[in-house]
Amino acid sequence: MSDPMRRLADNLRRSSIVRFLDHFARLFPDAHMKDLVVDELGPGRLMSVGGRRVMNFGSDSFLGLDQDSRVVAALERGVRAWGTHNGASRAFASVRANAEAEARLARWLGTESALIYPSVTLTNVGAIPALMGRNDVLVLDASAHNSVQEGAKIAGANGAKVLTFATSDPVALDRALREAGPARAAMVAVDGVFSMSGAVAPLAALNEVALRHGAVLYVDDAHGTGTLGSKGRGTVLEALGNYDNAIVVGSLSKAFSCFGGFVGCSAELKELLKMKSSTFIFGGPVPPPYLEAILAVLEILDSDEYESIHARLAANVRRIAAGMDRLGLAVLGGTQPILSVLVGDEADTLAAGRFLFDRGYYVQSVIFPAVPYHAGVLRVQANANHTDEAIDGLLGALEALGAAVPMPGPEVLARLIAA
Ligand SMILES: Cc1ncc(COP(=O)(O)O)c(C=O)c1O
Repeated sequence: MSDPMRRLADNLRRSSIVRFLDHFARLFPDAHMKDLVVDELGPGRLMSVGGRRVMNFGSDSFLGLDQDSRVVAALERGVRAWGTHNGASRAFASVRANAEAEARLARWLGTESALIYPSVTLTNVGAIPALMGRNDVLVLDASAHNSVQEGAKIAGANGAKVLTFATSDPVALDRALREAGPARAAMVAVDGVFSMSGAVAPLAALNEVALRHGAVLYVDDAHGTGTLGSKGRGTVLEALGNYDNAIVVGSLSKAFSCFGGFVGCSAELKELLKMKSSTFIFGGPVPPPYLEAILAVLEILDSDEYESIHARLAANVRRIAAGMDRLGLAVLGGTQPILSVLVGDEADTLAAGRFLFDRGYYVQSVIFPAVPYHAGVLRVQANANHTDEAIDGLLGALEALGAAVPMPGPEVLARLIAA
């Protein structure tokens, strides 16, 4: 290794986040449970990791469509029709399936247009700086997803004034927008459903404040897409009833179980985003076979069958939430398919995740920086394909966990929220 290369790695090792994560990886090599390698999937939501078969409660494929034969068949059809990749940026050319997927997506969503990006991360990192620049004001929810924050950093570097407000607090948003002063254009960027807590943002109240200050609302609804509202169209339509003042960003990778992200907006904004989003112009697109799979998923979401798939998911969310409640656990969210159980201490959070894994249940142990320091959680993700037996087994393991790891009760949650 060259000297400059050694120096680069040494410097990175000294950064506080690397030292923090290294510390836990070394201290708890067995409990750390990151970078897992999955050897086999199925049947159902079972998976094999390190020779152990565990029930997977850590998947974003909330509707279980990753296992739907129609979605798999569409993907295979797409490979035969279009090959494996677009071969160029969409600034030059898109396959017909792309135009169809965007038109169909917009029709389902109820927006005039939709623009597909290769992921939600690349949507936020491309679209936010495309929308906000010099003399503009961008106000972010303090807990908005990392990719929203990264997009805002680029917008800030381009000259936008960037401020944050206390999460989901309309009063704090009002204060931030007043503090920001006059702007060429203003935008408020929030998550629709928070990825680590499963909490739903109070969009109606936030939009009311945004409108009062002449600001547009930008909603990263990655976890609301396909799971919340009528036909799974997400938080914006559910809370606001229209998209008059909201740009919605959705995921094609989570409930959709395909690949990509999208912006739902007016035809005019789509045209402008295509001209101004660097991640759209300078990068490759969603591989065409996935566009066929996206069309197959839209077919399902638009059919009567969606109601029964969603009813299974909703029943599973209720069963998990009621069980956690009975166990006296401190649960964040509780109405969406992400149900996070507060543990607190980082070491305890890792040990708790390992405890469940050893009993046959995989949930994600989430610690700083994905959640605030000392607010580690077990992130439990419900799936339409979970059986009652699987859920009751997880609840049994959570009950046993209380004897092994100190678990805070709901009163701690109330203090945390009040703080
Ligand atoms: C709110 C939110 N935005 C963006 C992303 C990133 O999505 P992608 O994997 O498509 O980049 C996630 C992923 O978990 C998310 O929860």
